[in-house]
Amino acid sequence: MLAICGTMWPVNYLRGDRFLSEDMSNGWEAVAEEFQTLRSATGLEIVREWAASLPRGGSVLDVGAGYGEPLTAMLIEEGFDVSAIDASPTLVAAFEQRFPDVEIACEPAERSDFFNRAFDGIMAVGLVFLLPEDSQRELIRRMSAALKPGGRLLFSAPHQVCSWDDLLTGRQSSSLGADEYRSLLAGHGLRVVDEHVDDGENYYYEARRHSD
Ligand SMILES: C[S@@+](CC[C@H](N)C(=O)[O-])C[C@H]1O[C@@H](n2cnc3c(N)ncnc32)[C@H](O)[C@@H]1O
Repeated sequence: MLAICGTMWPVNYLRGDRFLSEDMSNGWEAVAEEFQTLRSATGLEIVREWAASLPRGGSVLDVGAGYGEPLTAMLIEEGFDVSAIDASPTLVAAFEQRFPDVEIACEPAERSDFFNRAFDGIMAVGLVFLLPEDSQRELIRRMSAALKPGGRLLFSAPHQVCSWDDLLTGRQSSSLGADEYRSLLAGHGLRVVDEHVDDGENYYYEARRHSD
């Protein structure tokens, strides 16, 4: 989705009180300001429909939340107990400014402990395919494990096996393809309950963890 990103960021950078020794945002920090002007409502209706399947007021983790518009904002407005993670310091600062009462960690999903909690719902929109292939597999395993029994996962990644250069970052993105994503989910005790395509032709997998 949203193949919107920029150029390689210097190895070391300082943003506010956050120092990261390397860019873990896969190029998004470099285009954080631009992204905030470009993000459309793409995907909002799919996430809204998914959220309606979650327990009212349930816990939701948004992995790669960006600055929280429009997806996280909708979850907050709907009364969910939202937690978020993003690796771009600039986008996290913008998120905190918008939603000062919502917890967000500025960290790479690959290293996150997901707040050491289990969630009713976890979503990762526009994130999984930014990661190297083995990191994608590991993230899907860890997100699956962080769901409560009966919890629901929603993530986007192309249906086909493919790789491409992001329009703004120039970084390579890659999709493992639907067969592998479905098989990974099944291997972690999740059943794919639906698949969706949004108006930007981004593909989504919606899966439910088996009740224990
Ligand atoms: C395409 S944007 C999507 C943002 C948001 N989910 C949305 O739909 O508007 C990708 C987001 O993933 C974040 N990101 C990239 N690599 C990450 C990583 N390794 N861990 C956590 N967040 C990451 C970027 O900073 C950016 O906010």
